[in-house]
Amino acid sequence: MLKVLGLTVLLSFSAAATAASVADTHTEMAGCESCHADGAPSSDMAFENEACITCHGSLKELEGEMHTQHDGIITCSDCHVVHEEASANDSCANCH
Ligand code: HEC
Ligand code: HEC
Ligand code: HEC
Ligand code: HEC
Repeated sequence: MLKVLGLTVLLSFSAAATAASVADTHTEMAGCESCHADGAPSSDMAFENEACITCHGSLKELEGEMHTQHDGIITCSDCHVVHEEASANDSCANCH
């Protein structure tokens, strides 16, 4: 019984590791400063969304229809809830 329990715990740990949030993966790479000016969030997230574009490119340059379809309409953080272990696919229902 204990062995079975141990295995369950191990499996849930590895699942959490692969589902790390975007903010966590980026903080590991380059710190909070990779998105936030001086590491502190802005009031409107304009700086943060500009940071995404500087590294990844704009909506019309990114691969995938879901990106090009929203060019000039919404921003990265409207779909990518970066501090949560969530897929951007789960954001569609917020608007559609
Ligand atoms: C990949 C870019 C990115 C990284 C790295 C990142 N953040 Fe964020 N952060 C955002 C975005 C975008 C938001 C807006 C909410 C959202 O989309 O989750 C946000 C929201 C926040 C908020 C909430 C602000 C509010 O008004 O609700 C805090 C606090 C914060 N971040 C702190 C941090 C700290 C501290 C770190 C480092 C440990 C960090 N962030 C790393 C992009 C990032
Ligand atoms: C300092 C440069 C930099 C900034 C700023 C940045 N990224 Fe990234 N991002 C990377 C790199 C490097 C990778 C890993 C390699 C890759 O997949 O392109 C990555 C990976 C990703 C991934 C793949 C999953 C993951 O977490 O690794 C997503 C999604 C992503 N970024 C979205 C964003 C969003 C949204 C923002 C703005 C809130 C952002 N990035 C800001 C450099 C950056
Ligand atoms: C309409 C919603 C939407 C918007 C807006 C959006 N994305 Fe995405 N993005 C997605 C979806 C859906 C995926 C693929 C599913 C996933 O990996 O979560 C994705 C995937 C990505 C990936 C690749 C992730 C990987 O696993 O390799 C990167 C990088 C990325 N987006 C960056 C951005 C950046 C930068 C912006 C802003 C310029 C942006 N996205 C705006 C929905 C969106
Ligand atoms: C923050 C709000 C928001 C989010 C989140 C969002 N969208 Fe949109 N989307 C819009 C708006 C606004 C338009 C342009 C007006 C319209 O056609 O409804 C649009 C347009 C579209 C279109 C083009 C429709 C057409 O008639 O040309 C498709 C397809 C689409 N979105 C799919 C998605 C998918 C898939 C996701 C999740 C990955 C998503 N959207 C996330 C707001 C959003």
